Amino acid sequence: MVAAKIAPSMLSSDFSNLASEAHRMLSFGADWLHMDIMDGHFVPNLTIGAPVIESLRKHTKAYLDCHLMVTNPLDYVEPFAKAGASGFTFHIEASKDNWKELVQKVKAKGMIPGVSLKPGTPVEEVYPLLDDENPVELVLVMTVEPGFGGQKFMPEMMDKVRTLRKKYPTLDIEVDGGLGPSTIDIAAAAGANCIVAGSSVFGAPEPAQVISVLRKSVNE
Ligand code: DX5
Ligand code: ZN
Repeated sequence: MVAAKIAPSMLSSDFSNLASEAHRMLSFGADWLHMDIMDGHFVPNLTIGAPVIESLRKHTKAYLDCHLMVTNPLDYVEPFAKAGASGFTFHIEASKDNWKELVQKVKAKGMIPGVSLKPGTPVEEVYPLLDDENPVELVLVMTVEPGFGGQKFMPEMMDKVRTLRKKYPTLDIEVDGGLGPSTIDIAAAAGANCIVAGSSVFGAPEPAQVISVLRKSVNE
């Protein structure tokens, strides 16, 4: 079994108090902090970039799981590495022609490369990146259309997770969008081990309890 990683999405946090929100999530048992980078072009929303990662890095040693919903991920490798990003997950839809160069540069800069797919993208599209001699180390299966927190989980995406888990037993498989106590069991049973959760964690009266429910379901 692959270890559970619970990653609260900081998109649902109070951005004006990012460092204390991060510390709060870590004290509640979060493994990773999920950072949603949106460029207002690849997705119809604009969030944060490397300067904010750099500021947060000064306050924590935590694994910063950066999810780049951007049109030109290659342009972000250098600034994100400098800023202190840990994981660099780009979208396959934005890197069809240059993923090899991208993965190589992400690794050379000391970050962990991951690839993400939107709901409409077939799972087969990430096989070349996993079967390459220089493979990505994580696949992020979107369970909502990327762009906003608080959307409804798409259970039909679990076919992709099941297929990936069968083919790659030790791969980090991450799910993102609409995850919480009511949807975790189906995602965990399909084989997801990295769980992103924004509104369900930040909106809970006791976030620590939600994080623990998510972890238990993956570890069962
Ligand atoms: C959506 C982002 C998610 C989002 C998840 O594009 O990638 O990380 O913050 O939020 P919830 O858990 O509220 O669906
Ligand atoms: Zn995300």
